[in-house]
Amino acid sequence: MTTVGVPQNVQLPRNILLMVTGGIAAYKTCFLARLLVQAGFSVRCAMTESAQRFVGPVTMRSLTGHGVATDLWGEGDTDPLDHVDFARWADIAVVAPATANLLGKAANGIADDIVTTLLLAFDGPLVLAPAMNDAMWRHPATRANLDQLRTRGAHVVEPGTGWLACGVVAEGRMAEPEEILARVVALAQALPVRSEAERAALQPTGPLSGKRVLVTAGPTREPIDAIRYITNRSTGSFGFALAYEAAALGAEVVLVHGPVVAPVPRGIGDVVAVETSSEMAAAVRDHLQDSDLLIMAAAVADFTPVAPVEGKLKKESLGTSWNVAMMRTTDILAEIVGRHRPAGLKVVGFALETEDLLERAAAKMRAKGMDCVVANNPTGDQGSFGDGAHRVWLLGSDGVIWDSGSSDKARIAHGLMEQLIPLLDGDEA
Ligand code: CTP
Repeated sequence: MTTVGVPQNVQLPRNILLMVTGGIAAYKTCFLARLLVQAGFSVRCAMTESAQRFVGPVTMRSLTGHGVATDLWGEGDTDPLDHVDFARWADIAVVAPATANLLGKAANGIADDIVTTLLLAFDGPLVLAPAMNDAMWRHPATRANLDQLRTRGAHVVEPGTGWLACGVVAEGRMAEPEEILARVVALAQALPVRSEAERAALQPTGPLSGKRVLVTAGPTREPIDAIRYITNRSTGSFGFALAYEAAALGAEVVLVHGPVVAPVPRGIGDVVAVETSSEMAAAVRDHLQDSDLLIMAAAVADFTPVAPVEGKLKKESLGTSWNVAMMRTTDILAEIVGRHRPAGLKVVGFALETEDLLERAAAKMRAKGMDCVVANNPTGDQGSFGDGAHRVWLLGSDGVIWDSGSSDKARIAHGLMEQLIPLLDGDEA
């Protein structure tokens, strides 16, 4: 079970033409093909001759379940649809990786192979995921070609900075498959609905469909000066897993997260990235109104420096020891939710305790007006930090509702969200 990607019950009945050109990033396009299929899209693939030197058509055929268009002459591994049918069939076209050569040809309307011909025959939304050497990426010709394509409405998923095949760390590395998927999902959701059957298929299904779930995750970062900050060891992964499971159960999800290293799940709904506890408080306030359930899984800092400095504090000016004056942060649960709680909103909080876990968690639940609390002990073998085995308890007003037993975070998140379904049905969890 993974917490990254699109929950598998979200059906997107759209046709995606995935075109691959000749760059080493083609290996990442295999993951993209799988993610698109998992998201419920029908995917057909076309590959240039150079692309086939990096990844075989058999790989793409196996991943998409369809024959792959490899040339204009109906030879090779071609799908029964001909090249113009491919373009007519597709709702969205994606070129990943899009080489500098492809961008040049596409900008100028050249159609001398299967991919460029399909591009010229296709008039729907186009997603380009460029990948190339950094000098080629910066070259004025590439910039001009991209400007031209953007003017015509192409959606460019910008390459990132990272290890390039030419042996340098620079800009030009193809965007990650999850990022390209997110762009395709957003475009698919914005396409006009063509039939009632399609409208029904686009609605998330599951016991939480029609419910809005706001999840906070990760730590917050409280600035001391422009360089230094105070944070904690939360990775965000449990909150992410809960957001993913809520979406998989059909909920409309808003995920508010602090600065994290863990990959943020894609395609689950609105994702709001914040840094400080006051930004998190504001984001929760902004999204609270229409929510049915708030899950405060974030490890919000309890204290923040009283007077963060704009520039960098120099150690010479601080002396041999240094006291940072701190003040309490806004308690989002107790203050914001307590004061502005919309009618019907259910609230689940977390309690981290190293001693008297269940008693203290229950006291915290009552003090902060939570409906349920998830209790866990951050230390020891089954602690909440890191990726090993974990164990949590879900408590309601009548005591322990559920003991997860020792398991991994993704499974616990799955079980926990199932336990919370009755809470939203109006029954006690
Ligand atoms: N919380 C919050 N706003 C804060 C601090 C915490 O909304 N400024 C939320 C957390 O997201 C969590 C719950 O309150 O759901 C409990 O957190 P907290 O009161 O900090 O408890 P512990 O983490 O257990 O820490 P402590 O024992 O120090 O109170």
